[in-house]
Amino acid sequence: MEDIYKFYENCPYRIEVRKSVTSTNTIVKEMAENGEKAGFCLVAEHQSQGRGRLGRSFESPDRTGLYMSVLLRPEMKALEALFITTATAVAVARALEKLVPAEKSVKIKWVNDIYIDDLKVCGILTEASIDFRTGGLEYAVVGIGVNLYANKVLTEKLSGIAGVAFEDSREDLRAKLCAEILKELTLALDFSRKTEVIDYFRQKSYLDGKEVSVITPRGSYPAKVLGIDENAHLVVEKESGEKVVLSSDEVSVRKA
Ligand code: BTN
Repeated sequence: MEDIYKFYENCPYRIEVRKSVTSTNTIVKEMAENGEKAGFCLVAEHQSQGRGRLGRSFESPDRTGLYMSVLLRPEMKALEALFITTATAVAVARALEKLVPAEKSVKIKWVNDIYIDDLKVCGILTEASIDFRTGGLEYAVVGIGVNLYANKVLTEKLSGIAGVAFEDSREDLRAKLCAEILKELTLALDFSRKTEVIDYFRQKSYLDGKEVSVITPRGSYPAKVLGIDENAHLVVEKESGEKVVLSSDEVSVRKA
């Protein structure tokens, strides 16, 4: 893998690249528990136990994706942690927009998947530890998995669901994308830019106007997406006409 620092002058992150790991999130979480400082970033070329949201696995085939986890220790209340996820989605979308051809449409599927031309190319898993004494965040690990190039797993297992960011495989694109994501993440996590970050998030929303299933721990229900509000929450309309504001549930698009 190319040197990421080459694409990020004065990079404030401490980046470590490994060939193969279980899960970058699992490793960085352990390091956080052992006192690692904010700004550590682990990048792997392959994960044997890549993890997704809701206990799902995340396919992480060798050398065709970017799998990275960043350790943050922001001073914020646990209740504000949704902003980390929003900011990360914005950072990844902006980084991809810089590197993919202009005709490709990069969108954010609430709350933190990135889609290109109707296929998921990136998933984000934010895991946080809360200090229950203060109600503040002890740390957050932001895990980002991007499908960079075509591979057997995508064709055989995820055809029609997941896509790739790039048509041609060029070794330096992984390092470049990683550097761009980290640059954008620094900007997006700046609380003073919160309004601008959320505006971009809303503007890039993949789900607006779509018929979806809202999946909650108590079951799922059909709804139509009205949009995203100023807190980055998803606003949907149930079949009864009732409006619901969602801050955490999962949403899947219903095919016509
Ligand atoms: C999802 O789509 O549900 C989230 C997927 C997150 C995958 C990334 S890859 C790097 C980091 N390490 C993991 O085990 N998961 C995240």
